[in-house]
Order: sequence, then structure tokens, then C-alpha cells
Amino acid sequence: MPKIYPIGGGKGGVGKSFVAASLGAMIAQHGKTVALLDLDLGASNLHTFLGMSAPKDGLNLFLNKTAQNLERVAVPTPVTNLFLISSSTCSMEIANLFYAQKIKLINAVKKLPFDYVLIDLGAGTNFNTLDFFLTSSKGIFVCTPEPTSIENAFRFIKAVYLRKIKQLIRQHDFDARVNAAILDTDSSAVKSQDLLDMVSKDDPEKASLLKAHIGRFQFKLILNQFRRSADTSLGNKIEAVCNRHFYSPFEFLGQVAFDERVIDSIYARKLYITAYPATITAMDLKQIAELLANPQPAPSLRQQAP
Ligand SMILES: Nc1ncnc2c1ncn2[C@@H]1O[C@H](COP(=O)(O)OP(=O)(O)O)[C@@H](O)[C@H]1O
Ligand SMILES: [Mg+2]
Repeated sequence: MPKIYPIGGGKGGVGKSFVAASLGAMIAQHGKTVALLDLDLGASNLHTFLGMSAPKDGLNLFLNKTAQNLERVAVPTPVTNLFLISSSTCSMEIANLFYAQKIKLINAVKKLPFDYVLIDLGAGTNFNTLDFFLTSSKGIFVCTPEPTSIENAFRFIKAVYLRKIKQLIRQHDFDARVNAAILDTDSSAVKSQDLLDMVSKDDPEKASLLKAHIGRFQFKLILNQFRRSADTSLGNKIEAVCNRHFYSPFEFLGQVAFDERVIDSIYARKLYITAYPATITAMDLKQIAELLANPQPAPSLRQQAP
């Protein structure tokens, strides 16, 4: 199974696609095979960040069953070892994937024969986006230092936990009261903590099962479009808040400096890190790519080390 890193964050325009393209390319430069999967269905643009025109075909061939294997629709990119599975030729209706198509796609992603799969997600917290984010326990949140962006990231994180808890409750035969609570599909009406409290009262054993499952996530955070005026300890502060308030460990991977030349590289149809390899932004991305290409043990294990 490949290492899968879904990249989400709730808000549009924070740089999810730029970060996905840059990290994918840099991990590939470490000699690993990498598939970039564009799942911003209906608004896909990952090819643009790679300096490519929209591929003629991609995910559409897998979803309409022309291609049996998902890897068959991956196309080479200008970077050795880096492949793109594009959804740019999928019709707009694809944004509302059927449930069976979504499950088929998620299962196929887990079997992709690459070392790494980076999934570029769209904005918002719709069920498809949340389910794609839950393809792996190692989701990466991207936000900018702006308060509105951080707020959206928190909203996204809460929606991810709630979606996972609801999935587990559906799968594990919970009592009628808990099931009735999860049928309330309005995520603002039901909170993860309320569901956990309810289950803890009725069935402590099942509550432990839920907590064990959601405790396995190892979410990661990147602060993009970081300007010199911003608080340099912001990333660590957000990491601490998340570790205090949520149910699993969070790791701040680093900040990525804002650089006007990101837009220049798009106009020039070049991958930013190839066009501007020596900028602070490229160095920031390089450090993060190294963390992902050579992952350290999980934080709890690290703490136990002598
Ligand atoms: N570090 C950065 N510095 C400057 N511009 C950036 C940076 N990251 C992203 N951008 C710009 O912000 C815009 C949105 O980025 P994009 O990756 O499309 O966001 P998202 O995928 O989250 O919607 C793009 O025009 C991109 O060029
Ligand atoms: Mg995007």
C-alpha cells in the first residue's frame, strides 16, 4: 500500500494545489515514485501547477469503466518519477459521485502501485471531500496565517472527526439512541464530543473502540503564504491547540513563505520549484518534503525513546 497524504483544509485559495504539486515533485526527486491525484472534482487545476496542459484523459476513464485499473490513467509529468491522475476531463456531474463510484475509487487509491500518493482536495466539507480525506490516517491540512483560514481549517478538522465517528457507529452496531443521533446529518447540530459522551454513558466498551480508532489519526499541518510580518510561532501554537482539543496527535510540518513568483511560474507554465529552486519558499517546501520522504516515528513513540 502506498503512503497516502490527502491534502485538504476547508478554504479555497490557501494553496492546497500548489503545495501538493510542489511536495509531490520534491518527494519524486528523492527517488520515490509519486502519484498526484487531483480530486478537486469540478475545479481541478493540478496540471497547471505542474506546467502541463490539461491531460486528454484521466479519472474519467476509470469512472466510466474504460480503464480497469486506476494506475492506467496516470500520465507522466515533466518530473521523473512523478505521475498525475487528472480529473480535468471529468464532466461537472462527476462532482456528485455516486456512492459506489466513490468506494471503488477509494479502494483503488489504496492499491496504487506507487510509493506515495498525494491527493489534492477541493474546498469545503462536503461528504466526498471528507471521505477522500479519510482515505488515510495521515491527512495534511493547509491553511494560511489569516484568522479566517485557520477558522476554516478547524471547521474542516471537526467535520473529519465527526464523519469518521459516524462511519464507525454505522459499521459497529451501536444502540438505537446513538444511531438516531447520527441520522441527524447536519454536522453543526451534532458534535463529536456529544456523540462520544453519549456512547460512553451507554456502552463504555464501544466508546473505547471509537476513541482508539480516531486516536490513530496523525494529522499534519502546513502554514502556506507565510509573510514576514506573521507570528513565527503561529504553527507551533496551532499544533498545541489541536493536540489539546482534538483526539489524536497533530504535527506542524512547517511554514511556506509567500512569494509573488508563484504566480509568475504559473504564467510561464513551469513548476515553481524548477523555475525558482533557490527561494525561501522552495527551501521551506524542501524541508517539508524531506519530513514526508523520511518519516519519523509517530510522536507518542518518539516521546518514549531514550
Ligand atoms: N506560497 C505562496 N506564495 C504566493 N502565492 C501562492 C502561494 N501558494 C499559493 N499561491 C497562489 O495562491 C493561489 C491559490 O493557490 P491554490 O494552490 O490554487 O489554492 P487551493 O488549491 O487551496 O484552492 C494561486 O494563484 C497560487 O499561485
Ligand atoms: Mg486547488
